[in-house]
Amino acid sequence: MTHSFEEPAPDRSLSDRLNRPLAVGNRILSKRLVLAPLSKLGNIAFRELVAGFGGYGLLFSEMAGARAIPHGNGHHKSGFMWRTGELADLVCQIYGDDPEEMAIAARRVEAEGFFGVDINLGCSVAAVCKHNCGAALLKSPALAGRIISAVRKAVSVPVFVKFRTGWRDDPEAAAEFGRRFEEAGADALTFHPRVAPDIRTRPPKWAYIGRVKDAVSIPVFGNGNVFDAADCERMLRTTGCDGVALGRIAAARPWIFAEWTEGFQPEPKIYGQTARELLKLLLTHFEPSLALRRFYKFAPYFAANFRFGHTFYSRVYRAKSIEALQAILTDFFSTPPDLLGSPNPNLFS
Ligand SMILES: Cc1cc2nc3c(=O)[nH]c(=O)nc-3n(C[C@H](O)[C@H](O)[C@H](O)COP(=O)(O)O)c2cc1C
Repeated sequence: MTHSFEEPAPDRSLSDRLNRPLAVGNRILSKRLVLAPLSKLGNIAFRELVAGFGGYGLLFSEMAGARAIPHGNGHHKSGFMWRTGELADLVCQIYGDDPEEMAIAARRVEAEGFFGVDINLGCSVAAVCKHNCGAALLKSPALAGRIISAVRKAVSVPVFVKFRTGWRDDPEAAAEFGRRFEEAGADALTFHPRVAPDIRTRPPKWAYIGRVKDAVSIPVFGNGNVFDAADCERMLRTTGCDGVALGRIAAARPWIFAEWTEGFQPEPKIYGQTARELLKLLLTHFEPSLALRRFYKFAPYFAANFRFGHTFYSRVYRAKSIEALQAILTDFFSTPPDLLGSPNPNLFS
């Protein structure tokens, strides 16, 4: 179905729900819709693009290794890059397996002026888990608890924990993680209800979000497969979660926060403008070859907006220089793209 731009604005009740203030630790969020951490995708340039549209409560950075953070100087490989103007709403996600290193990293994050720090207990990619970090720590809940306690003691800014169901498909175990993390000092949880070995193939079990929410008294952000306003409303209503963290849909539609919380109505020309603006911002923050690689990362998610979207990203991947990519964007958007009502999640990885 082709998207009609005369569709009614999202249900008023969704924006009402998302615009209710939420206390997290010693701070108040004005909106309950946040950008989930997205490695390589949620980079400084992409966040500047999202910030231009607004409408979010917080942005979570891509994950940064705790060991590198104390020496980080904004180098692109560390994932530890930010703009001063975004710090008030930016949470830095860190990963590591050593409580002391995580505490030192968290202190630096606080000293730089971030809104808060997020502990990654959810990433299940092999490169992270083989170092006993991310979701691997869900196999060692006592160590995960010690990491959270150490970070809690080290900083006074809000401490978030992002986690998955665990390595067994057991909602009670997920609820138990939530209780343990709250006890260890977390101020808020982001819960992605998939078992760790499932990267993102099977649907997340949203009912487990309700189980975690019932087990704790701190705010819980639900996460996983929220692709349209109806999904978002349903996640909030059926799980009782306090807010929603958006991942891939935000890459497809960086204005989604403004659309759902502020009634922003995108016009068809937004697609071409957004692609060009992202490339411009990537070139501001990165050298050209990295800017190109970061655009490749974004392309399949953005392509999901278009009928026959694979033609968009396969053309983008063929561009081997910034000039070639610019020419492809000019050509692709010279005629209005054929838009889908909701992005095609088959193009999401
Ligand atoms: C490209 C990509 C990178 C990701 N990087 C991170 C990360 O650095 N830290 C993390 O906790 N989760 C990471 N995730 C998981 C997302 O934060 C989120 O939990 C997941 O995509 C499900 O939400 P969604 O269905 O809204 O995309 C990543 C996901 C994707 C697709």
